[in-house]
Amino acid sequence: MTVGISTPAYVVDAAAIRRNAAILADVKRRTGCRMLLALKAFSMPAAAPLLNDTIDGTCASSVHEARLGHEVFGGETHAYAAAFSAHDMRELLGLEAEAGQRREPLINHITFNSLAQWQQFRPLLAESGTEVACGLRVNPEHSEGAVPRYDPCAPGSRLGIRRTDIEGGELAGLSGLHFHTLCEQDADAFERTLSVFEARFGEWLEHVRWFNFGGGHHITRAGYDIDRLCEALDGFRTRYPRADIYLEPGEAWVLNAGTLVATILDVVRNDVEIAILDASCVCHMPDVLEMPYRPRVFRDPDWDGAAEPGPAADRGGVPGEKSFTVRLAGPSCLAGDVIGDYSFATPLRPGDRLVFEDMALYTMVKTTTFNGIRLPSIWLRDGTGDSKLIRAFDYADFISRL
Ligand SMILES: Cc1ncc(COP(=O)(O)O)c(C=O)c1O
Repeated sequence: MTVGISTPAYVVDAAAIRRNAAILADVKRRTGCRMLLALKAFSMPAAAPLLNDTIDGTCASSVHEARLGHEVFGGETHAYAAAFSAHDMRELLGLEAEAGQRREPLINHITFNSLAQWQQFRPLLAESGTEVACGLRVNPEHSEGAVPRYDPCAPGSRLGIRRTDIEGGELAGLSGLHFHTLCEQDADAFERTLSVFEARFGEWLEHVRWFNFGGGHHITRAGYDIDRLCEALDGFRTRYPRADIYLEPGEAWVLNAGTLVATILDVVRNDVEIAILDASCVCHMPDVLEMPYRPRVFRDPDWDGAAEPGPAADRGGVPGEKSFTVRLAGPSCLAGDVIGDYSFATPLRPGDRLVFEDMALYTMVKTTTFNGIRLPSIWLRDGTGDSKLIRAFDYADFISRL
């Protein structure tokens, strides 16, 4: 067990991020596409040096992410949101700034979600004198996902403009087209989406200078068909050789690259054994409840901070699979602050540590201080296996938000 890591803590593993970055760098090399980091999935400034060499920039969903991309991660900064306020736009263009912020443009690409927003901000863009490439997010109306909440092409979706709604619209001045429709999917889903996109929007594609095919490409997952992705991108490039192609994955950069380590505070009984941890599901891994999904977890006395369990780890099985079944739950007041039911080779005791896997993506960015529960500290494990404390949180962090 890594000494010195007080719990709860996120431990981000530099070696795992580098492994992911090498895979994405290879896709760039093979296809000539540009690869952005979607900051919504991972926005840890201390990890920027691990990614800076590989990313071509970032994509931001807000002014604050754009500022982070611009100031810390570097390269190009793209922005997209379902809608921007006039105030957002002035900050993105450097016409206004928050206290302590330099007054300079934060972005070089912006993607609008509607023609009305494009028309609204066109004069401001011209007035700002900044060189910002403007694009439009389209909805190819082709669903690859089964869960409507994560499907931007679900009926009634507000994300992206449909072809029928572009008809007759004013497109002059727009140089890019963007779609984002995938979620943790393989290259076959991308291939099908791309062909629907080309069929639906074909008449405009000749004039487009940059395409952004979004995130959701699970490129760094074992078994992802990288050759098929590269073939799809190469084929598209052959058909539209004058345009730049962007992908903007989030998860793929930090897949399996971080953990949340927690300590068992108590074990209570109510028909089942319930281990109460110092990490809360609702505060520290909200996607477990929102998606919902079941995180992988292990117990390993020799754990050294690595993102993956070692050979001696006791990995949490399904209930009944191993000798001791236990419900893992958080310390908050929410009855549903339950991570799930697992089984282990030996009983869990107060003081034992559990390590939840794959917690770098979307987890660290979504934490809350509900119940005033302390946020997990953040650690970075370097290539030599040493973990360094990046950030610890205290009362000031709790109270300053409210
Ligand atoms: C517009 C856009 N781009 C990129 C991403 C990143 O997706 P992922 O983290 O699944 O790769 C998202 C995720 O929601 C998104 O909405």
